[in-house]
Amino acid sequence: MKTLLSEMAIAERVAQLGRTIADVYRGRPLTVLGVLNGSVVLVADLIRAIDTPHQIGFIRASSYRGETTVPGQLTIGTDLMPAIEGRDVLLVDDIFDTGRTMVRLLDELNGRNPASVCTAVLLWKQGRSEVGIIPDYHGFQIPDTFVVGYGLDYNDDYRHLPWIAVLNPDDLDEVGAKSSGRNGNAGR
Ligand code: IMP
Ligand code: MG
Repeated sequence: MKTLLSEMAIAERVAQLGRTIADVYRGRPLTVLGVLNGSVVLVADLIRAIDTPHQIGFIRASSYRGETTVPGQLTIGTDLMPAIEGRDVLLVDDIFDTGRTMVRLLDELNGRNPASVCTAVLLWKQGRSEVGIIPDYHGFQIPDTFVVGYGLDYNDDYRHLPWIAVLNPDDLDEVGAKSSGRNGNAGR
């Protein structure tokens, strides 16, 4: 697997993003809302770089798509979500790919009368967007290739890698062989 973004490059960029976000939201009732499962690593690092008081919470988004980046049926779970009425929400996800997940989540959040909603992602895949929005904050723009690590999965594996790696077709065969017998559903 080829490393696309090193641990150090990610750490530096996340620290910068945290400083920028802190400056924007200082004195405001900020809720950092992570999209499970992919955002857990980013949220853990990002909130420690935002040096202004804020709350955190999570919302779930999952789809039946393990092997490709073809969008499937998206399910949103709000059972873990805190109240956001009147709060400034920063919706944090691992990657902005087609953007469909973000659009659906924004619809869901805007129905709950937050003071504002902005979006932050670690990765923004070039040339894949199918929607009319772009992320307000992003760590890196990356080429249209399938990546894993730092929260991003392939069939729910590899989220634990401390860096971002490109998964090539040989790696896919290997994982497929190891995980045969399991269903291929991936949580986002
Ligand atoms: P979107 O709705 O197409 O923007 O999809 C966003 C979701 O798809 C992310 O939250 C990821 O979980 C998943 N995803 C998109 N591209 C990749 C990738 O290259 N690796 C792993 N997951 C991805
Ligand atoms: Mg995912």
